[in-house]
Amino acid sequence: MGREFVDLFDHWAESYDQAVTGKDIEYQEVFLNYEHILQEVANLVNGNVVEFGTGTGNLTQRLLEKGCSIIGVEPSAAMRKIAGKKMPHLTLLDGDFLNFQLYGPIDAFVSSYAFHHLEDSEKANAISKYATLLSTGGKVVFADTVFGSIGEKETFIQEAKNNHYLSLAQDLETEYYTTIPILESMFHSNEFSVEFKQLNRYVWLIEAEKL
Ligand SMILES: C[S@@+](CC[C@H](N)C(=O)[O-])C[C@H]1O[C@@H](n2cnc3c(N)ncnc32)[C@H](O)[C@@H]1O
Repeated sequence: MGREFVDLFDHWAESYDQAVTGKDIEYQEVFLNYEHILQEVANLVNGNVVEFGTGTGNLTQRLLEKGCSIIGVEPSAAMRKIAGKKMPHLTLLDGDFLNFQLYGPIDAFVSSYAFHHLEDSEKANAISKYATLLSTGGKVVFADTVFGSIGEKETFIQEAKNNHYLSLAQDLETEYYTTIPILESMFHSNEFSVEFKQLNRYVWLIEAEKL
C-alpha cells in the first residue's frame, strides 16, 4: 500500500512541470502560488533533510540552493529520471513515505503535494516512524492539500463536478486527502507540536516539531 498511484506518476512525469505552471485549468487553483509554496517549505528546514515524493525535483532544487544535504525518496522511476537529469549529483532513492534508507541522523522530513498518497492509517504509521528518527527540535514540514473537515472536502468535490473538472473531482474522491483535525491528532499523539498555515484554497503548510 502507499504506492498505488505510482503508475499514474510514471505517465504524468514528462508533462508534470507544465501542469504546475497552471496551464491545466482543472488544477490551476491547486498549483496557485506553487513556487512560493515550495519556498515556504524550504525556508523552515536546515541540515540533513529527507524529501519524500521528490517528483521532478522542484522543491529539491530549493533545498539544495539553501545548502541542505538531501536524500530524495521517490517511488516513480520516470520522476526519478527527470529529477536525476536536473540534479546529477543528488542522492535519489527508490522508496516511499514508509520505506526508505537512511545514512545518518536526520534534521527534517519534508514533502510537497505528496502525503495524500497514504491512507490515514499509513499517515499515522509514517508520523510515528519519523518521531522515532528525529531528536528534539527535529521537523516534519509538508505542504499538501488538506481540508478543514470532511464536509468541506465534500463541498470542494461538488464544486469540481459543477465546474466539469472531472479529473480533479476523481482525484479528490480517490486519493486520501485528509483533514487538519486528523493530522493534528496524529502529530500530537507522537509528541510533536504542529502548526497549519493556508497557502492557497487547497494547500496548507504543515510544520511539526518534535518535542
Ligand atoms: C504531485 S507529485 C509532487 C512532486 C513534487 N514534490 C512537487 O511538489 O512538485 C507527487 C509525487 O509523490 C510521489 N509518490 C506517490 N506515492 C508516494 C509514496 N507512497 N511515497 C512517496 N512518494 C510518493 C509521486 O510519484 C510523485 O512524484
